[in-house]
Amino acid sequence: MLLFTQPAELKQYFRQLPPTATIGFVPTMGALHEGHLTLVRLAKQQCTVVICSIFVNPTQFNNPEDLAKYPRTIEADSQMLESVGCDVLFLPEVTTMYPTPVRTTLDFGDLEKVLEGKFRAGHFNGVGLVVSKLFHLVKPDVAFFGQKDLQQCLIIKQLVRDYSFDLKLVIVPTMRETDGLAMSSRNRRLTKAQRQLAPQLYKALQTAQTELQNGQAVQTVQENFTTYLHQWAAFRVEYFEVANTLDLQSVMHCTHGQEIALVTAVFLGEIRLIDNLVFTF
Ligand code: PAJ
Repeated sequence: MLLFTQPAELKQYFRQLPPTATIGFVPTMGALHEGHLTLVRLAKQQCTVVICSIFVNPTQFNNPEDLAKYPRTIEADSQMLESVGCDVLFLPEVTTMYPTPVRTTLDFGDLEKVLEGKFRAGHFNGVGLVVSKLFHLVKPDVAFFGQKDLQQCLIIKQLVRDYSFDLKLVIVPTMRETDGLAMSSRNRRLTKAQRQLAPQLYKALQTAQTELQNGQAVQTVQENFTTYLHQWAAFRVEYFEVANTLDLQSVMHCTHGQEIALVTAVFLGEIRLIDNLVFTF
């Protein structure tokens, strides 16, 4: 696996690729796990070469402490990437990605006013900025994103459409631990006791789906979700919404055949976990 820190190195690498080569791209912030590796494996199947980036992007963190505490495990990450046949690891410095403060801002309209956007001011502006920069540098034919970050997937879809990025997006289903907990870089910050409780989040999502499909009202399902998780003092539900998958706006009534997303963010102690479940009503 080649390791580049400079855009010029990427440029030179592209020059020696055959013109028919296709580039698969997996952007990440590192602290890699099986979820990330699934994206890389898929990219490997679908493209000639795979480029993975690791960049803990400061502009998407609204909380400086969260940025400082974000796990950085570059040695282990590069070994994992090597083991799944990643061709290039792009590891830029903050000063390379942001030589000067960015003045332009992105506006995703209603999509950024709900869920993560509502609770993490400026987050999607930061994601949109860095992903645009990375798309320009890596020039992928196919880019891979995880459904774990459902709203991010919709934001990137809009970015690709609005700015005419000439690439295909592939959205990969959420990879989970055997007990149902969605894999996440943040999971490694959970204490042993919190880690044991964490699968209750997925359990609560599944229960909510069953209740909705049994005809219970959205509001009741929301209340039950929160009451269930709040039986443990360590859980604090930030939001739990029943939304339409097209634009992630909340729905108060599900209609037959409609694709529904149950989307949530909860604190487990200090650690903020997000998860979602998508199904056809
Ligand atoms: P990060 O959280 O490192 O995630 C990188 C990619 O892996 C994202 O597309 C994310 O949705 C996907 N991913 C994470 N956990 C997953 C899981 N359990 N199953 C499947 N896919 C999973 O998302 C980001 O980084 C950043 O916002 C980024 C897009 C790199 C921009 O900075």
